[in-house]
Amino acid sequence: MRIDIISCVPQLLESPLSYSIVKRAKDKGLVSVFIHDLRDYATGKHKKTDDYSYGGGAGMVMMIEPVYKVIKKLTRQRKYDEIIYLSPDGELFDQPMANKMSLMKNIILLCGHYKGIDQRIREHLITKEISIGNYVLSGGEIAAAAITDTLVRLIPGALSDETSALTDSFQNSLLSPPIYTRPADFKGWKVPDILLSGDHEKISQWLDEQAIARTKALRPDLLK
Ligand code: ADE
Repeated sequence: MRIDIISCVPQLLESPLSYSIVKRAKDKGLVSVFIHDLRDYATGKHKKTDDYSYGGGAGMVMMIEPVYKVIKKLTRQRKYDEIIYLSPDGELFDQPMANKMSLMKNIILLCGHYKGIDQRIREHLITKEISIGNYVLSGGEIAAAAITDTLVRLIPGALSDETSALTDSFQNSLLSPPIYTRPADFKGWKVPDILLSGDHEKISQWLDEQAIARTKALRPDLLK
């Protein structure tokens, strides 16, 4: 899978995409992530990527031309499954959407900044808009990092334990059951006896029950 991220503050993306599982997946060649600095495509001597909005109103607007240039350069080189704009107006990102997207070959993630982007970019260049939640971030970078991280862990081989992503919370619309590690007793805080019993069938049944009970208690909306 190849992910191209377009941003005017690429520094915001560096660290979340340089460690842990995303780094390992990149090193293994399972995913390529390219970050494109929008300023490299800006024209004029001030290398502007934003301008005042027509009709007034507060806030700067991301200009068409730099975005057009970078997207055209990329789409001339390969076909993209989706050209995505990160925006609170978009479809809400969730695990089923992530599962579908993880099967794609090439995607572009465009991070907005300022008050927004020129509407004509959305009409003519963007194929999908995604929001990561009902709140407003200062830019799309944190959303792009969250989406990239979510997709990468779904690529077969990205996690050391192949079954891990399948047992993630939400993968079956349930939260994960509680987990424990040694010691079995920490200052009187005990690991449930069942987990020490060695009876794998009973343990598996208990974990299922716990997942359902936790989902009912904490996220009943997932069971609807
Ligand atoms: N940009 C600003 N807010 C956002 C959000 N909630 N999701 C995705 N991109 C955004």
